[in-house]
Amino acid sequence: MVALDGLSLKILRGINGLIGPNGAGKTTSIRLSLGLIKPNAGSAELFGFDCWSNSCAIRSKVGVLYEKLAFYDHSTGIEQLALMAKLKGVSVSLVELKELLKLVELDVSAHDRHIGGYSAGMRQRLGLAQALLGDPELVFLDEPTSNLDPLNRAKILELIPFFE
Ligand SMILES: Nc1ncnc2c1ncn2[C@@H]1O[C@H](COP(=O)(O)OP(=O)(O)OP(=O)(O)O)[C@@H](O)[C@H]1O
Ligand SMILES: [Mg+2]
Repeated sequence: MVALDGLSLKILRGINGLIGPNGAGKTTSIRLSLGLIKPNAGSAELFGFDCWSNSCAIRSKVGVLYEKLAFYDHSTGIEQLALMAKLKGVSVSLVELKELLKLVELDVSAHDRHIGGYSAGMRQRLGLAQALLGDPELVFLDEPTSNLDPLNRAKILELIPFFE
């Protein structure tokens, strides 16, 4: 089965959107860019690095909101971000983490609550905050508005230009 065929694109500085029907290969393109899967043919480069053979160099410059969110549900939102910052080698204070959660409008009362009790929209916001950790040069947002109600969907879309 072919997951992605004949894709040729350049990502320019600024906001780039990749749209297409379900199964078109959007998520596959992101996974290729992060070196999570190896292309059978062709190649991809980011920041001049080959996405498969030099994925570590790429991942340190990139933030990602995954399509399928996976968190440690027994952790609080703050603990999750602190752990991810540590794994990424990003030095960030508690105040900065809280500011990040404020940016994505995750209610203050949720910061110290277990993620297991979050609504789907709250998890999405935490995922957005996680993608922005360490002020990455490039942010991939895979379906950034899924699970959000119409009003909040509009709000998040308005926020995206500020991520630049
Ligand atoms: N590792 C893989 N090996 C083979 N086929 C795959 C692999 N990953 C994805 N596919 C297939 O490639 C196609 C594209 O999948 P992908 O998840 O990239 O689509 P998408 O554009 O992100 O869709 P959606 O809008 O539903 O999120 C699908 O048919 C999928 O089943
Ligand atoms: Mg997808």
